[in-house]
Amino acid sequence: MYQKPHHISVMTAQVVDLLLPIETGLVLDATFGAGGHARALIESIPGVQILALDRDPSVRCDVARTRLVPANFSELAAVLAAEGIDEIAGAVFDLGLSSDQLDAPERGFSYHVSGPLDMRMGPDAAVPASELVNVASEGELRDIIFRYGEDRFARRIAAAIVAARPIEDTTRLAEVVADAVPAPARRRGHPARRTFQALRIAVNDELEALRRGLDAAIDALRAGGRIVVISYHSLEDRIVKQRFAAGAVGCVCPPDLPVCGCGTVAELRLLTRRAVTAGDDEVEANRRARSARLRAAEKVAGGDAA
Ligand SMILES: C[S@@+](CC[C@H](N)C(=O)[O-])C[C@H]1O[C@@H](n2cnc3c(N)ncnc32)[C@H](O)[C@@H]1O
Repeated sequence: MYQKPHHISVMTAQVVDLLLPIETGLVLDATFGAGGHARALIESIPGVQILALDRDPSVRCDVARTRLVPANFSELAAVLAAEGIDEIAGAVFDLGLSSDQLDAPERGFSYHVSGPLDMRMGPDAAVPASELVNVASEGELRDIIFRYGEDRFARRIAAAIVAARPIEDTTRLAEVVADAVPAPARRRGHPARRTFQALRIAVNDELEALRRGLDAAIDALRAGGRIVVISYHSLEDRIVKQRFAAGAVGCVCPPDLPVCGCGTVAELRLLTRRAVTAGDDEVEANRRARSARLRAAEKVAGGDAA
């Protein structure tokens, strides 16, 4: 049965403020979720329509002037081509999971409730988390937990998981990880948080999807178009920061050269020098906002990537 989403959108005012100057055209909401950002944009900018994407086919859209396509934003270039869209005026990416997904035990994303080891955001994810937890080699597991969870106890955790196989559900996995971590480290947040993050990123190939989605969105932006990205952990934020910084690089000729010989033209102008974080009031009202990092950029006229 359809249940009304309870996800609270993060940094909505900042997203709207940054996209307000575009005034007209098609805005991409690459991560529609509960539709909070889309709804706020539709209400605040009368001249825009929205193309929304979500990788999770259970997501429903009831926002005016918005068309939802169930798709991974890694396939954005193909979606735009199939829809006959050759430019967008703006884009918003609000990464990760919605609270509705996180709180649904049967999705297996949470270490707080018992559920199957699934963690697939959508049917395009190759394998459920149980394949990694119960089948992958100890070395593969260690690499996943180290690279995607940045957990310095990755080696111990991977060994403990392999020794405890078969692991049936999220609660048991959380216990195994907690027992593998030295006692002092257990006091710094939930000890399984990083392992769950790592498995989720691996199951959904999230970082590669982000790289591809950002490239396609920046390519499709019209001159003066704007892109806003909210990320929730350092691996995502680093990708966004580096992609925006690379796009903002202009002429690299020595300053004493009278005429540019390199032909490098910046495709982006940074609208945020540093990542913007949520204010204290928002963090108090919505714990999810605590880790949010927002970055934004504008497509420069004539700055199409070479
Ligand atoms: C944080 S929620 C978005 C919430 C939304 N901005 C709002 O205000 O209600 C993230 C959503 O993005 C979706 N998502 C995550 N990665 C995706 C991807 N690679 N492609 C498409 N959708 C994705 C998730 O399924 C989830 O519904």
